[in-house]
Amino acid sequence: MNSEQNTVQRHTPETLKEIGQTKLAAYIEAQGAAQQEQILAQLAELDLSVLDAGAAEEARGIFSPLQAMTRAEISRQRARYTEAGLAAIRAGKVGAVMLAGGQGSRLGFEKPKGMYNIGETRTLYIFECQIRNLMEVTEQAGAWVPLFIMTSEDNWADTRQFFAEQDYFGYNPEYIRFFRQEQLPAVDLDGQLMLNPSGMVLTAPNGNGGWYASMERNGMLESIRAAGIEWLNVFAVDNVLQRIADPCFVGAVIESGRESGAKVVAKAAPDERVGVLCLEDGRPSIVEYFEMTDEMRTLREPDGTLSYNYGVILNYLFRVDCLDRTLGVSLPLHRACKKLRCMEPDGTVVVPEEPNGYKFETLALDLVRLQESCLAYEVDRSREFAPVKNKTGVDSAESAQRLLRLNGYVL
Ligand code: UTP
Repeated sequence: MNSEQNTVQRHTPETLKEIGQTKLAAYIEAQGAAQQEQILAQLAELDLSVLDAGAAEEARGIFSPLQAMTRAEISRQRARYTEAGLAAIRAGKVGAVMLAGGQGSRLGFEKPKGMYNIGETRTLYIFECQIRNLMEVTEQAGAWVPLFIMTSEDNWADTRQFFAEQDYFGYNPEYIRFFRQEQLPAVDLDGQLMLNPSGMVLTAPNGNGGWYASMERNGMLESIRAAGIEWLNVFAVDNVLQRIADPCFVGAVIESGRESGAKVVAKAAPDERVGVLCLEDGRPSIVEYFEMTDEMRTLREPDGTLSYNYGVILNYLFRVDCLDRTLGVSLPLHRACKKLRCMEPDGTVVVPEEPNGYKFETLALDLVRLQESCLAYEVDRSREFAPVKNKTGVDSAESAQRLLRLNGYVL
């Protein structure tokens, strides 16, 4: 199902009609020869077979609970794990990957989400929060952590320029590498291909699951191998309390002997809408809240804690050699309903108020299923989880500001 593995066809308005893409076919037919050629050349680079993906529910295996290393257990071993993690960082074995290619459509901010200013009386950019958090670790370790930043086509130039203008927020630029993820076509709610405001086929970033494959395509893995990096901590840009290359987490995963680790938070309530780390057919996996039965939601362990209790926060530690194994594997493509800025065939640019189409994406959580084992590592959500997803309400700039203040930030 992956785009690379299918033969890409040279399309014409006729072949588009054959696959039901009548809206785009009619648009192309109405254009002059030069514009027609440009769109057909763009289409030749796009794999339209992805358009059938994600509509049907994916078959899942048998789920069972996965116990987490709890906060209490972690605090008993904190000094030992932290030393082990710092040793790995000092030995140059740990890199970090920031996933910053999202469109931030719910926040409705035109620029890359990392450029959003979460400060009130002063500026505090989301990117700045991330770099500051990482620098607490690099200062403690006395060593830089190589940081790889994934952007999309759309936010590549803005992101790089912003980091340069801000002098990399004090990070050593020699340890920062940017790379781009790929794009996939997007469709409207009727499954029709859309146009972007320049009159070409609308594409959207292909999700956060392909980051390692994109690193390979962009030549990043050579630097990783040359530098001897053995572990990659991948994380979302939008959690402003994100602990990156957290030495205690790194040390705990290394000492556990597991192939990967995931930071998790205890659910606030049985029906909280988070993906829960568990086992699926004996392998680590994430079950989405809508995939859980009532029985799974309310099942409890003998000590009273929920059996499916630990939600993921998009902060994973992967072993590089285990990631290499995933390179040939097609991840499932999911459909996400989004607000997509587009153009109607008559030239009207649409900035939607409500979701108006689907983008196709692979998800980082599907990489967890390709690992033999995963340490679920519990963290305190009020200290480590403040995602900025929405304009207001739950997981918004406002809720993140509240949590930042709780953690001593002056905004
Ligand atoms: P989200 O799933 O929250 O998506 O991304 P988003 O695009 O940022 O926001 P909405 O849904 O349009 O409002 C979770 C993390 O994955 C990254 C995001 O930048 C964020 O750090 N991501 C998402 C990518 O790097 N690439 C993508 O294609 C999608």
